[in-house]
Amino acid sequence: MAEWLGNGLQIRAPRFDSGRRLQSSPRPEHPMSLSLDPAIEERLDSLRALIGDTRLMVIRCAYRGQPLTIGAKYEVQNFTGSIKDRMALHIMEDAYAHGAVKPGDTIVEATSGNTGIAFAAVGRALGHDVRIYMPDWMSRERVMVIQSLGAEIVPVTAEAGGFLGAIAQAEAFAAEHEGVFAPRQFETQANVDAHRLSTGPELRRQLEAAGLEASAFVAGVGTGGTVMGVQAYAQERMPGLRVHPLEPANSPTLRTGHRVGKHRIQGISDEFIPAIVDLEALDEIVDVWDGDAILMAQALASQFGLGVGISAGANFLGALKLAHEAGDGRAVATVFCDSNKKYLSTDLCREEPVLPEYLTPEVELLGCRVIPGPGLPWRSGL
Ligand SMILES: Cc1ncc(COP(=O)(O)O)c(C=O)c1O
Repeated sequence: MAEWLGNGLQIRAPRFDSGRRLQSSPRPEHPMSLSLDPAIEERLDSLRALIGDTRLMVIRCAYRGQPLTIGAKYEVQNFTGSIKDRMALHIMEDAYAHGAVKPGDTIVEATSGNTGIAFAAVGRALGHDVRIYMPDWMSRERVMVIQSLGAEIVPVTAEAGGFLGAIAQAEAFAAEHEGVFAPRQFETQANVDAHRLSTGPELRRQLEAAGLEASAFVAGVGTGGTVMGVQAYAQERMPGLRVHPLEPANSPTLRTGHRVGKHRIQGISDEFIPAIVDLEALDEIVDVWDGDAILMAQALASQFGLGVGISAGANFLGALKLAHEAGDGRAVATVFCDSNKKYLSTDLCREEPVLPEYLTPEVELLGCRVIPGPGLPWRSGL
């Protein structure tokens, strides 16, 4: 089966054969010079065909009667169903290109969930064992998905340090063992580059295709890779685009620098400001209540059939706030990071009380238009 990309380049659809070996597909010149084991190159190539190039959902809505347009990248379409696949693939490509990982190494990472799923799938597809350190309060579905992909999970209790404890334990394991590759998602430039080279360029093309001018981009900060990567791309190719980080109003880590309070938006606002986040380079922080994010995610699912996760609800509200404040009729862009399927046992699937400060009750969802992926070669940076 073949697919034709927008620029006339043909790729063969990837195919998994019985031996977990992935078939390769021709691809354009790689921006980095790799001299890789051809079997690894084939596997990377197939993963490239499964990650990125997601659709843009252009959502028309009204907030307190004011018409607004939000463009959200539908990251559910990625290989394992979340935006983190972009980062996992690019970190592995980068590590192979620089000899930081070799076939047979064990991938060891601390994560609150989606990164674990992404590294489990990408890592196993490349033939690596994968060991994930994760706080033990993450949803049951996340744990089961990671285990089903053949990775090992080391749960870390709050008493053992929670998220920071998970990072410390992953580092200790990496220091004490040979043949370990530690991606260090909170520190590596490859995380930022994944979005600078893929999410940013896709967004620019799709906004153009939709005939939209965007005033801002906003995204919740987990590692900060998404927001920093889009910011870096915008500096080069989308001048004037404001790029805002988002965090839960009830747990403002970015504003305080450490863990404050609790929140239910899994995947964002861990317990510290990640090393790759440069708040000086970004526009103001946007706050969203976690209960409001749950109500918004529920509304997107029940009214448009867009079964998205809680951080997607938060991102939508962040975009809505910015579009409302700007009041200039321009769109605001964001990402729907993952689907609702990993949150079936959480408050996302329960009745959420409405509080007076919430925005969702005054949002009217009017329509949704879908802009196809632009078919750019994976992380083209164009
Ligand atoms: C559901 C979800 N939303 C948002 C994010 C944040 O993305 P980033 O790490 O690029 O800041 C994550 C990261 O794990 C996530 O899992």
